[in-house]
Amino acid sequence: MQGLFFFLFMNSLSFLTTISTSTDTLTSSQILRTTQTLQSSNETFVLGFIPGINLNNFYLAIWYKNSQDTVVWVANRDNPLQNNSTNDGFLKIGDNGNIVLLNSSSNNNLVWSSNQTTVTKNQLVLQLLDNGNLVLRETNVNDPTKYLWQSFDFPTDTLLPSMNLGWNFDKNTEKHLTSWKITGQNPSTGDYSYKIYFHGLPETFLVGSDRSLIYRGGPWNGETFSGLPEAKMQDDTDSIVFNFSWNEHGVYYSFSTINGSIYSRLVLNSYGQLQHFTWNQSTKTWSTKYLYVFLSDDCDQYRKCGPYSICGAHASPVCKCMKGFVPKNERTWNVNDFESDGCVRKTNLDCKSDEFYQMVNVKLPETTKTPVFVNTTMGIKECGDLCRRNCSCTGYANIFVTNGGSGCVMWFGELVDIINYTKGGQDLYIRQAYSKLDIDTNEETNGTAITIAIVIVATIIVATCTYFLWSWASKHSELSSFHFQLFVLTTGKSPQENQSASLIGDVKQVKIEDLPLFEFKNISTATNNFSSANKIGQGGFGSVYKGELPDGLEIAVKRLSRDSGQGLEEFMNEVIVISKLQHRNLVRLLGCCIEEEEKMLVYEYMPNNSLDFYLFDPIKKKVLDWQKRLYVIEGISRGLLYLHRDSRLRIIHRDLKPSNILLDGELNPKISDFGMARIFGGTENECNTRRIVGTYGYMSPEYAMEGLFSDKSDVFSFGVLLLEIISGRKNTSLYNHEQTLNLLGYAWKLWNEDEVVSLIDPQICNPEYLDDILRCIHIGLLCVQEIAKERPTMATVVSMLNSEIVKFPRPFQPGFIQRQIERRGEPSVNRVTVTSLQGR
Ligand SMILES: *[C@@H]1O[C@H](CO)[C@@H](O)[C@H](O)[C@H]1NC(C)=O
Ligand SMILES: *[C@@H]1O[C@H](CO)[C@@H](O)[C@H](O)[C@H]1NC(C)=O
Ligand SMILES: *[C@@H]1O[C@H](CO)[C@@H](O)[C@H](O)[C@H]1NC(C)=O
Ligand SMILES: *[C@@H]1O[C@H](CO)[C@@H](O)[C@H](O)[C@H]1NC(C)=O
Ligand SMILES: *[C@@H]1O[C@H](CO)[C@@H](O)[C@H](O)[C@H]1NC(C)=O
Ligand SMILES: *[C@@H]1O[C@H](CO)[C@@H](O)[C@H](O)[C@H]1NC(C)=O
Ligand SMILES: *[C@@H]1O[C@H](CO)[C@@H](O)[C@H](O)[C@H]1NC(C)=O
Ligand SMILES: *[C@@H]1O[C@H](CO)[C@@H](O)[C@H](O)[C@H]1NC(C)=O
Ligand SMILES: *[C@@H]1O[C@H](CO)[C@@H](O)[C@H](O)[C@H]1NC(C)=O
Ligand SMILES: *[C@@H]1O[C@H](CO)[C@@H](O)[C@H](O)[C@H]1NC(C)=O
Ligand SMILES: *[C@@H]1O[C@H](CO)[C@@H](O)[C@H](O)[C@H]1NC(C)=O
Ligand SMILES: *[C@@H]1O[C@H](CO)[C@@H](O)[C@H](O)[C@H]1NC(C)=O
Repeated sequence: MQGLFFFLFMNSLSFLTTISTSTDTLTSSQILRTTQTLQSSNETFVLGFIPGINLNNFYLAIWYKNSQDTVVWVANRDNPLQNNSTNDGFLKIGDNGNIVLLNSSSNNNLVWSSNQTTVTKNQLVLQLLDNGNLVLRETNVNDPTKYLWQSFDFPTDTLLPSMNLGWNFDKNTEKHLTSWKITGQNPSTGDYSYKIYFHGLPETFLVGSDRSLIYRGGPWNGETFSGLPEAKMQDDTDSIVFNFSWNEHGVYYSFSTINGSIYSRLVLNSYGQLQHFTWNQSTKTWSTKYLYVFLSDDCDQYRKCGPYSICGAHASPVCKCMKGFVPKNERTWNVNDFESDGCVRKTNLDCKSDEFYQMVNVKLPETTKTPVFVNTTMGIKECGDLCRRNCSCTGYANIFVTNGGSGCVMWFGELVDIINYTKGGQDLYIRQAYSKLDIDTNEETNGTAITIAIVIVATIIVATCTYFLWSWASKHSELSSFHFQLFVLTTGKSPQENQSASLIGDVKQVKIEDLPLFEFKNISTATNNFSSANKIGQGGFGSVYKGELPDGLEIAVKRLSRDSGQGLEEFMNEVIVISKLQHRNLVRLLGCCIEEEEKMLVYEYMPNNSLDFYLFDPIKKKVLDWQKRLYVIEGISRGLLYLHRDSRLRIIHRDLKPSNILLDGELNPKISDFGMARIFGGTENECNTRRIVGTYGYMSPEYAMEGLFSDKSDVFSFGVLLLEIISGRKNTSLYNHEQTLNLLGYAWKLWNEDEVVSLIDPQICNPEYLDDILRCIHIGLLCVQEIAKERPTMATVVSMLNSEIVKFPRPFQPGFIQRQIERRGEPSVNRVTVTSLQGR
């Protein structure tokens, strides 16, 4: 009854107080309906309602008037208003002075509330300011900037100029960014937050939804965060100024634009990347000023290296004990598990005679969990003296890099999460036993002797290996033209020249010493003597066995079959390529075993088999709902981007297909099988090979027909993979009514008939995700276009998947739309090696 009364009351109320379209304020006697908006006085920002992916969901949001899709704030992100033709929701100032979003169903249903109460006789108004802040204030007061509530105190995923993040110590409140579930589409709480933690020094962290720390931005060094040295460098010509303020009342991070333009925003996207956009007035588009891709290299992973070790993205292995320290546990360290145990001192401290060793250009160790002492004005000398006098002080550094360095931070515990930068970073002094430094000096003067010893040992190893490879190769006549030349390709030379010219260059690249060596007998034990029960598959060049090391670590062992002449080259190739790579979406090589006739690669074990195992199985595919498939697609795209662009080498995989995508326990996709991969020289864009290897159905036309390969041939394979993941069907499988078309041809036909929805695997065809799925099909079709030049790069693909690019070009016809009729009888997973006619 009360509800009915309320409903009628509200209806008549709104009848009386229809707000005008261009107002920026809402008084306590007005309501804002879902079809109405408020506009800031100079029409920069708009407050109103936006639909979610599910068009029945509505969110109260603020966006730019000039860029309506750019939402900067959302109120009820996790509790959308359900729009319904009869029951519209509305916003109003509630009775006790808080702001409420109600749905006007039969009772007064609260969807969202600002949760603050105000007792005042003055009239309250809600106003959208020109800087994008939605404020609740009293009228008739002296200070109109004294807000009772403001949206800037509750950021969503966007930081605007004049907004800030951080802590108010007086009120014990904190502000941080939290990503959308899907940036631009689904505003509900996403997987990442970016926040400042304050224990020792204030430090920024990228935090997962389970509150796990993913990336540490490090402390503010006066110019940027210690862990984001690029931020400063990229900012040289910029009109954006970052401001970090820190005193007894609070610690805040904010930015402003010199020009005073408010069209600049920092967004934490749903991939956990921080992206800074500015508006280009002439093109009316946003351009990315910079993108902080946390986790762009291995060192970014929080605590990658464990205590007292230092991470160098360009070092191999990436983690190295600090000077004077040794791995605590050789066993774990040697299988590249640096984090668990880290390093320990070689020599114990005696406290009196300790020395300090200076490391330059590093990211300062974490101060959030390790006890620290901080004084922002003390100089480095006094800081050092203080540290030296206190035995439990393990290291010290200047806090700020400005004015030649100032401030003092001392650590009283383990030093963790340190990165060695090539540029930027800070100086760190670590405590060491005096005797240790002494020995180091001796090592240097005695260096020649040691170097000679190393050279001799190395020569013996190389000679043994070379002899062994050579003798092995000569036993197999088809290997006499041993193809080392394919590892590094040089431009401007005929294939014949290439062959000899790079042979020497390539042998230099073989650094198997980098890789832990396993003993044959240990692997044999681990795999139960390679019993058939342990056999889990057939890889590109041999059988794959599951095994378990004595310490419980599960491994997958790929054993080169002795009687196949094909495998050795691929084996070497795989060792060379993958031992240099580390990425979440690439399978991890733990080591290898080379003993007499036996050659084996030891990988981390992937409990969930490969993608094809799920994708093409009518029962198992149910495990892969759309969210998981999208996750897999994104993972593969990032792994591939790393290969093509972000790794130290540029690598073309050349054999991307579902059976080469392995899934770990959490269904994280990992690209595997680098037996066919090729390393590209720095400036090359395209290469020609006479030996065409790959798998039918996934090879691009220019590669299969002319032997031309480039990153765009991987993009083609990725496109096929994408369409297979969405359709749940193999490219080469038969379509009852479309006997002559393969999946690409079928997809193209449906696309042109505007029927592409019927391509989608019924398992995932949920209207809620339809837009996403269609977007992915569009991307897939762009990737498989016949002309390599038209295909996007992986960088573009990743941006498209991230919705950073929203307008896609229309795709042209895919390559290879006809089924390869003559291959109908061929087993579907076998890799084929084709030698084109003009070759050899
Ligand atoms: C109104 O909101 C309540 C609480 O969120 C919800 O249970 C109800 O379904 C909503 N009704 C409509 C018509 O939106
Ligand atoms: C509208 O809301 C009512 C009550 O929540 C619900 O029963 C009805 O199905 C909704 N209608 C539509 C079209 O969503
Ligand atoms: C709610 O749904 C009705 C009918 O579908 C539509 O007319 C109205 O515009 C919707 N409300 C909003 C805010 O879009
Ligand atoms: C307001 O308080 C309620 C109940 O404590 C809570 O569920 C809701 O999330 C709060 N809303 C905001 C915007 O903090
Ligand atoms: C709107 O107002 C803000 C703040 O007063 C100002 O910085 C901005 O330049 C104005 N924008 C336009 C388009 O006038
Ligand atoms: C930096 O931020 C603090 C606190 O938000 C503010 O008081 C100060 O004026 C800002 N400084 C600059 C240069 O913007
Ligand atoms: C501010 O930006 C506008 C538009 O980009 C430009 O015309 C103007 O010169 C800029 N002003 C300053 C002080 O840089
Ligand atoms: C805006 O875009 C145009 C065209 O791309 C470009 O020439 C111009 O430099 C851009 N302006 C700014 C301020 O970035
Ligand atoms: C910080 O160091 C300065 C210089 O040594 C000293 O004067 C000041 O008292 C110290 N402050 C604190 C809080 O220890
Ligand atoms: C060393 O520093 C720690 C932490 O500040 C402090 O608790 C301890 O008393 C100091 N020891 C000496 C001998 O000054
Ligand atoms: C940091 O890396 C450089 C080479 O990039 C190396 O010379 C230096 O020794 C490394 N520093 C530390 C402390 O490991
Ligand atoms: C070389 O090292 C040995 C012990 O390792 C030491 O006795 C000798 O003095 C060193 N030689 C020089 C030239 O320092």
